[in-house]
Amino acid sequence: MLTIEKLTKTFGGKTAVDSASISVDRPMMIGIIGRSGAGKSTLLRMLNRLTDHTSGAIRFEGREVTALRGAAKREWQADCAMIFQQFNLVPRMDVVSNVLHGTLNKRSTLATLFNLYPDADIHRAIDILDRLGIAEHAPKRAEALSGGQQQRVAIARALMQDPKIILADEPIASLDPMNAQIVMDALRRIHEEDGRTVIANLHTLDTARRYCDRVIGMLHGRIVFDGTPEQLTTGTARDIYGADASFSEEATSTQIDALTRAKVAPVHA
Ligand SMILES: Nc1ncnc2c1ncn2[C@@H]1O[C@H](COP(=O)(O)OP(=O)(O)OP(=O)(O)O)[C@@H](O)[C@H]1O
Ligand SMILES: [Mg+2]
Repeated sequence: MLTIEKLTKTFGGKTAVDSASISVDRPMMIGIIGRSGAGKSTLLRMLNRLTDHTSGAIRFEGREVTALRGAAKREWQADCAMIFQQFNLVPRMDVVSNVLHGTLNKRSTLATLFNLYPDADIHRAIDILDRLGIAEHAPKRAEALSGGQQQRVAIARALMQDPKIILADEPIASLDPMNAQIVMDALRRIHEEDGRTVIANLHTLDTARRYCDRVIGMLHGRIVFDGTPEQLTTGTARDIYGADASFSEEATSTQIDALTRAKVAPVHA
């Protein structure tokens, strides 16, 4: 289905993703973990063609994604919708219009300019919001919603594209535990009920274990673990995060990063 072969990205002299290979042969929910700077976002952005790769290849159902240009590239970007930590909604626009934005790449400039949406699309947008439990908020401005609700609007906008893959870059990093759970439950349900593949960068190991069928661990741009949550031992997790015995599964990648940086920081007299 989806194959990533020796995918590499360098920025100047720095290698952000280093010869990463992943093969996905059926719809799955995959969690990518690793400390800050490991290359998780760069990998997702290359998948969605937001960032150009330096070498290697991405293939999906027989097509080379990394070779797509123009309309074919935009079509691919609709096939693998992306969700971000900061939701990326239009704050002053109402919820349903934000969701309808998910159909943008399929519409004419003129229709977009005059905010003309077919009735069928509007009904579908409301149905998707309903499925995510937020239909009652449809007429409100996006900025009036809580973070968890806004992230569900972003998921609704992604679903509007009817994507085969949903890419989520730290979808719950800005949310409180309760909203984080609601958003992860929604992603899991979309995977199970629709058979869509979900690939999510997650900032805690805990969440990856609880929700994902497969966990991929990155360190310095390389994939250093790829297996089921059961196969991921505490020792391996410690290696992925470069953490010591004080490592805790609930700790976020940023906390682990700050902790290790504090330990190696020079002590001033
Ligand atoms: N546009 C860019 N220009 C230069 N360097 C970049 C750029 N984007 C990422 N990098 C570098 O590539 C490396 C990987 O970054 P990336 O954002 O993919 O890491 P990450 O695992 O997503 O980290 P975080 O957990 O902090 O989000 C880092 O060293 C980063 O500084
Ligand atoms: Mg990132």
